[in-house]
Amino acid sequence: MAKKTIEDVNVTGKRVLVRVDFNVPLTEDGRVADDKRIVAALPTIRYLLEHKAKVILCSHLGRPKGKADPKYSLAPVAARLATLLPETKIRFATDTIGESAHQAIDDMQPGEIVLLENVRFYKEETDNDPAFAKELASLAELYVSDAFGTVHRAHASTVGVAAYLPAVSGFLVARELSVMGKALDDPKRPFVAVLGGAKVSDKIGVLTNLLTKVDKLLSLIHISEPT
Ligand code: 3PG
Repeated sequence: MAKKTIEDVNVTGKRVLVRVDFNVPLTEDGRVADDKRIVAALPTIRYLLEHKAKVILCSHLGRPKGKADPKYSLAPVAARLATLLPETKIRFATDTIGESAHQAIDDMQPGEIVLLENVRFYKEETDNDPAFAKELASLAELYVSDAFGTVHRAHASTVGVAAYLPAVSGFLVARELSVMGKALDDPKRPFVAVLGGAKVSDKIGVLTNLLTKVDKLLSLIHISEPT
């Protein structure tokens, strides 16, 4: 099914809330250890900046269990983003919602970025709480889903917010939908899936679904979790 992307809507001058996946590893002294996920989000971010949107970035980092914890702050990510986009004004909002988020957004011009603090500092995020989703939505006029590694989570910032704003995909998610859509609906055979990465328990649903479609499944991970 074709889904609308950022190229199908007018973003100019609009406050655009982009759910990205900036869940990156940090060094012990709090610097970004690997910026692959930040770099992967740049095509969507650059498109929005070039089209003079006000870009509001929202992400989780780690699993802070619904409480503000400086260890999981996205401040180091804002610093890395600033080195990747040296021409762009980037503000870091020290809260995800509320006064400081609204203030940072009120102060921004088209073609600038506000990065919100870790959305998982609120337990309402993982609960997919509708009031929290509405509060997040109140920051923006358009929602962009581009958190490639997190779209499988039914959380307020990945699912809930789309009930209150027009929603489209960013380039990362659009590519996933098109490549995976084609592979799953009408695969060239033999169809072989290669499975890697961590968090095996999260993948069981995907595996069960894939097993009905593939000819072979190759796993690079240990299916049995250590006891
Ligand atoms: C990941 O790293 O797998 C994604 O960012 C999702 O994180 P989560 O497993 O904590 O929801």
